[in-house]
Amino acid sequence: MELENKEVQARPERKKKIFSGVQPSGTITLGNYIGAIRNWVKLQDDYDCAFAMMDMHTITVRQTPAELRRRTLELMALYIACGIDPKKSILFIQSHNSAHAELAWILNCYTYMGELQRMTQFKDKSARHADNINAGLFTYPVLMAADILLYQADAVPVGKDQMQHIEICRDVAGRFNALYGNVFTIPEGLLVKSGAKIASLQEPTKKMSKSDSNPKGYISMMDDFGVIAKKIKSAVTDSEGVIEYRPDDDAKAGVNNLLSIMAVMTDSTPERVAADFAGQGYGALKSAVAEAVVEGIRPIRAEYDKIIKDKAYLKDIYTTGAERACGIANRTLKKVYKKVGFVTD
Ligand code: TYM
Repeated sequence: MELENKEVQARPERKKKIFSGVQPSGTITLGNYIGAIRNWVKLQDDYDCAFAMMDMHTITVRQTPAELRRRTLELMALYIACGIDPKKSILFIQSHNSAHAELAWILNCYTYMGELQRMTQFKDKSARHADNINAGLFTYPVLMAADILLYQADAVPVGKDQMQHIEICRDVAGRFNALYGNVFTIPEGLLVKSGAKIASLQEPTKKMSKSDSNPKGYISMMDDFGVIAKKIKSAVTDSEGVIEYRPDDDAKAGVNNLLSIMAVMTDSTPERVAADFAGQGYGALKSAVAEAVVEGIRPIRAEYDKIIKDKAYLKDIYTTGAERACGIANRTLKKVYKKVGFVTD
């Protein structure tokens, strides 16, 4: 068949680019899965995607080296088990591509102290790690900007808590472009409709976090299925006893959260789930959510258990991934070096 428009045939439109990643700093939570990884899987067919294990970011907080190595590989196995296809997407370990550190240094010189001081994650983490408020913790968003800009990403699928970092990335990229011409694509943050902020099961006005000191607050993708069900069944709700989705009402935060989780796991909406459960008790909702989460995670875990054993396969993926990532990133870095005045040839 001949296409009418020869130009379209000869030059198909450039696929848009996506970059994202998770820190292998602890156990991976249902929040990470729903807010980020699950969303990435759906984007792989329509975008050129690169996903990384962000090990360099983790050392802004002290890590045990052997554990960090283990977790990095576990995270990669989990990405694949969740449906990230290494044939479609670039999958690599951040520290395997030195361009990230190199661009971060340059961008440090184009980022203001005042901008970094406003970051809520920096404020939270420095309060939690008052004995180790290091410079890396402060410039963390600059490394994150480098991650994204190296790949000329059009979109960055993340949870709500990372949007402030995407904003600073856009500001720095815009500032750099204003000085030197169109060097960087200005990326957009991409949020899922429901589930961009999965809440703690124990303190539902806070986000579910792997660094929560109370493990009942989060669901780990690695928890026993019985433990997952138990955590959901003991989730904090309210005393009103009415199943309604009221996203702007903090008093309803626990129920809103359960409805959001259920909606994501059953490809529905929180409003529709609320309608389905209208008139029923919280116990019925919790049982249904527990079942949906366990059944959603079960096949991922089965796949994960297979992949994690195959160290040669994992090594092959991250080696190929790093080669491809370095190729793309170095093109951007070279352009940046030229623009700022470094001798490049
Ligand atoms: P991290 O490792 O804290 O979280 C990984 C992803 O999971 C999302 N997320 C959530 N989404 C919904 N509800 C929650 N409770 C929840 N908790 C976490 C996060 O928003 C994130 O999308 N700085 C990043 C890692 C990073 C990065 C990057 C991401 C480094 N460089 C470049 C994108 C692009 C972080 O600490 O994510």
